[in-house]
Amino acid sequence: METAPKDTIDQALAALAEAFPRRFEAAETEQALRDENAKILGKKGELTAILKELGKAPPESRKAIGEKVNVLKRDVEARFEERLRAIEKKRRDADLSARPFDLTLPGRVPAHRGHKHPINAVREDVIAIFAGLGFAVHDGPDVELEENNFGKLGYPPDHPATDMQDTFWTTDGHLLRSHTSNIQVRAMSLQKPPMAFIAPGSVFRRDDDATHSPMFHQLEAFLVDRRVSMAHLRGVLSEFATRLYGPGTPVRLRPSYFPFVEPGAEVDIGCVFCRKADGTRAGCSLCKHTGWIEILGCGMIHPVVFEACGIDSEEWTGFALGMGLERIAMLRYGIPNIKLFFENDPRFLAQF
Ligand code: PHE
Repeated sequence: METAPKDTIDQALAALAEAFPRRFEAAETEQALRDENAKILGKKGELTAILKELGKAPPESRKAIGEKVNVLKRDVEARFEERLRAIEKKRRDADLSARPFDLTLPGRVPAHRGHKHPINAVREDVIAIFAGLGFAVHDGPDVELEENNFGKLGYPPDHPATDMQDTFWTTDGHLLRSHTSNIQVRAMSLQKPPMAFIAPGSVFRRDDDATHSPMFHQLEAFLVDRRVSMAHLRGVLSEFATRLYGPGTPVRLRPSYFPFVEPGAEVDIGCVFCRKADGTRAGCSLCKHTGWIEILGCGMIHPVVFEACGIDSEEWTGFALGMGLERIAMLRYGIPNIKLFFENDPRFLAQF
């Protein structure tokens, strides 16, 4: 086997040690520097080749040569880093001294603007209408006591709405409120009449199809004072319909049942799509050819609710109404499926 004389390896190391700093210095770009580095330290690099010769050196000198190789390797690595930083700095200095960016210039592509979700837009409009009529805004929790959501509102314990199939119950016996009518109970238990409140909020029901979602939004309005009558309710409903859907929007009440009102009614407005509430024509598919569309439930607050909240039902009377905001928004924008509100698809949202 051929023996590489110690001197030959020494010479090669010395030559490399002498030459590599100049080679690094000559590299002007990061890529050039990395290429040069690879020529020395890479798998087929010069120092790696010298290392391979080590096995051929006389055993007694291998240790000394090995140490020299390691020293040189560390030198190369250190110099590489140093030169890399110098190249970086030079590039940055050049960037900074170049013509400065004008950060105030408008972009070439028009920026996408965020805007209100249709449910928020409708909620704000409805709040503004009731605020204009003198109602204050009341808030309340999503997780509620059974008695505030059902019991004090006159629901018997075996009412179907209290069923596991209809309402979400927590494991500790509370529930996710199934309507915003819980706020009537909370407000009337906390303060004495007269009062006029609205309560917007999320509500939850085990319901899921094209027009029902397990979570949706309601807005409740209620007013308690002396000698409040159905006529006041009717007046507020007309004003609401006019302000939300435009002057001349017809309103009608159909008798209906809710445990916490007496009498109770469902409210229809003349179909905002076909405007055929005069009964002269068949209407459209959105109003199922009736010319009318249901928008909310309402009624005169039941004496049992007043009594449950510690309010004298002989002295005070009041009305309440509750609407689904998704429904109002679907009617306003002609949206066919409630799920569209919750998917947050920008192609949908950008249309409003
Ligand atoms: N809470 C009723 C519902 O969710 C709506 C309603 C509110 C009815 C106020 C009458 C009075 O269906």
